[in-house]
Amino acid sequence: MLRDRYGRTIEYLRLSVTDRCDLRCTYCMPTGFKGFEEPADWLTFDEIERLLRAFARLGTRRIRLTGGEPLLRRHVTDLAGRIAAIDGVTDLSLSTNATQLRRHAAALRGAGVSRINVSLDTLDRACMQAITGRDSHTQVMDGIMAARDAGFDPIKINMVAMRGVNDGEIDRMAEFCIEHGFVLRLIEVMPMGATGRNSAYLDLQPVQARLRDRFDLVPQALELGGGPARYLATRDGKSSIGFITPLSQHFCATCNRVRLSVDGTLYLCLGQEEKFEFRPLLRGGASDAELEAAIRQAIELKPHKHDFMAQPEKIVRFMSQTGG
Ligand code: GTP
Ligand code: 5AD
Ligand code: SF4
Repeated sequence: MLRDRYGRTIEYLRLSVTDRCDLRCTYCMPTGFKGFEEPADWLTFDEIERLLRAFARLGTRRIRLTGGEPLLRRHVTDLAGRIAAIDGVTDLSLSTNATQLRRHAAALRGAGVSRINVSLDTLDRACMQAITGRDSHTQVMDGIMAARDAGFDPIKINMVAMRGVNDGEIDRMAEFCIEHGFVLRLIEVMPMGATGRNSAYLDLQPVQARLRDRFDLVPQALELGGGPARYLATRDGKSSIGFITPLSQHFCATCNRVRLSVDGTLYLCLGQEEKFEFRPLLRGGASDAELEAAIRQAIELKPHKHDFMAQPEKIVRFMSQTGG
């Protein structure tokens, strides 16, 4: 088992399989084209699998594929299958923008992905174009429905709530999710890179109180994935709404995760700089025992909490680089 200096058990690895994306959400990706070729410093599937096996031997149970947009990584379903087959991994999930989900949904399910979270900040086509930089509405909605048809349940809808941008749509989004059986998660925007920092922050505490009254929601003790969201449910227990509030009420005390970027850098916290490079070990002939020792050493670096409030300028890397 991996335990950090603060007694937290680390059992959730977020794996970024690409730092590229076909969208340019205002709060996430800077504009610019990164090319089509896969750079030599990206970990290969063999390298990823080997490293993840070492993590799993040390108690990692949950793996989430992220990016950038993970479905843009070539043959990502093959990688999913290889990860799902690792001894000890009991939960393989995916966070996606859903533009490519329609053609991948069934294969992902077949490969062993058990849960999908989709970024969807608005139901309005023009607003979506303004946020994502592309007219992606039809493709995304098709992708979400294809995932539902492929049997993914629950499907979580991630809505980054921004003042003056999409905050007027929160209730409509809640109704949509309740109607379709999706779990809505409202997220406070984090100051990651200039994109995150320049986004219009909305404190979700008052929103939570308002939705609780409007939809007659009650606290839900049930853990819905091991992530940072706190959930409220409708009284019939059929629908849940999650709140991810890194700024207004952070959840660092129960943090259970670390992040591996596409080039093999392990980030110990979303909102801090501590990191550990695994690529040199993987390419330098390290043994399995050496990899495990390095993982333990890296976990020692995990900081206590983020500093987004006190130092909003601190993290210059973009969300797409670290993987959500
Ligand atoms: P589940 O396993 O389904 O609970 O997923 P998740 O909520 O952990 O993952 P997802 O990729 O859907 O992320 C939702 C939001 O939570 C994104 O905005 C992430 O950046 C944010 N998030 C996830 N993990 C952390 C974390 O450790 N710290 C902070 N500050 N934010 C996080
Ligand atoms: N703050 C909060 N959430 C963000 N995401 C991307 N950038 C940010 C940010 N700056 C979210 C996306 C996606 C998830 C993986 O991370 O909306 O749903
Ligand atoms: Fe791409 Fe997702 Fe970032 Fe939007 S939030 S730019 S869809 S990685």
